[in-house]
Amino acid sequence: MLSLIALFMVIISTFLLFLRYLFSGDSSSLLSAIPTSHFLAPYTRYWLVWLKGTGCEHRVRHAAHARLGPIVRIGPNEISVTCIENGVQTIYGGSFEKAAWYLNFQNYGQPSMFAMGHNKPHSERKCMLTHVCSKSYIQNSPELNEIIHHVLSERLLPKMRTWAKNGVPINVHEENKACIMDLTTAYFFGLGNGTNFVQDPAQTALLKNFELGMSGLFWIAEVPGITKLAGIFGIKLIADGVFQSYQLMEDLCTNMCKSAKSNLSNESTNKAHPTVYAQLRSKLEEAKIPSELLDVTIVAEMLDHIQAGHEGTGITLTFLMCELSRNPTLMVQLREELATLGTSPSAQSIDNLPLLDALLMETMRLYPGSFGPASVYSLHRNPKVFPDPEEWRPERWIEASGEKKKEMMK
Ligand SMILES: *[C@@H]1O[C@H](CO)[C@@H](O)[C@H](O)[C@H]1NC(C)=O
Ligand SMILES: *[C@@H]1O[C@H](CO)[C@@H](O)[C@H](O)[C@H]1NC(C)=O
Repeated sequence: MLSLIALFMVIISTFLLFLRYLFSGDSSSLLSAIPTSHFLAPYTRYWLVWLKGTGCEHRVRHAAHARLGPIVRIGPNEISVTCIENGVQTIYGGSFEKAAWYLNFQNYGQPSMFAMGHNKPHSERKCMLTHVCSKSYIQNSPELNEIIHHVLSERLLPKMRTWAKNGVPINVHEENKACIMDLTTAYFFGLGNGTNFVQDPAQTALLKNFELGMSGLFWIAEVPGITKLAGIFGIKLIADGVFQSYQLMEDLCTNMCKSAKSNLSNESTNKAHPTVYAQLRSKLEEAKIPSELLDVTIVAEMLDHIQAGHEGTGITLTFLMCELSRNPTLMVQLREELATLGTSPSAQSIDNLPLLDALLMETMRLYPGSFGPASVYSLHRNPKVFPDPEEWRPERWIEASGEKKKEMMK
């Protein structure tokens, strides 16, 4: 019923906007030289909103690119780009500001790095965290090494042995997200102050809040005006549980930040150290942020990272497991490759395994774990770079070398 009303409102507003633009002409003549994906696209953004709401944005955009080339107009002020040179490179390398869309993603009423509209504060915040999130730091961090060892061998492996013994079906996607959440929060807040979603069912239940929170995103980010207007007329487009779920996520993160703060004096470099929390806090203090904003700024930033981190990585892991279970030969080969590592392998030696690397690259190519309007879907399906793009074929990363591999890596 609610979605019918919403649909009705979308149609009415589209119609009104269409009439307006029809009589005032194409709003942006600069873009009129670019092929349009749909006859409505130059006049209203509701064509695109409709695709997002019905879950077919990526496929329709991809089909438009196949028909019209690498640059396509998808809205009055919006284009879709799927080429690297004179395309993605220009956009990311240039100093374009982010779209207003990002401003919708605030936590605790504060803009995190993701939600910051302007380049300067965004890159300043990014610089504060680059060090502890860089590949070399992560690979060499003794704290993280201990954390990974603890979460995998003390928490996950015993649980997996029980599954294997009992032969009960399990939801691997939930388990993957739980495990990634434990690893991430332990690195952020220290092992004792992070989550224990893997072992504690009461905590695992909190994952539902993160899923529920995502379900409200369309209304909040894509059609905030309509959502507010509907609210004035007493029509709730966002279910009650969604706002409660935001509260519960914020509470979870607030509590972890509080315990990390009280554990800060612990200067020891061990798994109890809140690595990322401590780094951000000291950098914000250095930048002389007003003290009353310090705690809320940190907690808003941390929540964004643990949310996006466990969802994106969880999705990649689940697709990888799914594809591996359909390819038993590859699974045997992967086992053989892992067996060459010995008992306590360095992160570097794991990183150097060619088959493991190919499996991850191919999974991230075909099933990118990000949400929102991204060109990744089409870029990764460019048949000139990836022949038979819809096929999950990890060997392509092993067979390719030289210029070909470089192009794929782009
Ligand atoms: C935070 O971690 C420290 C060190 O591991 C531990 O002593 C403390 O009990 C933890 N606090 C909470 C609230 O779990
Ligand atoms: C510091 O960490 C150690 C090792 O985890 C722990 O035993 C100790 O209680 C911690 N100290 C404080 C003040 O939290």
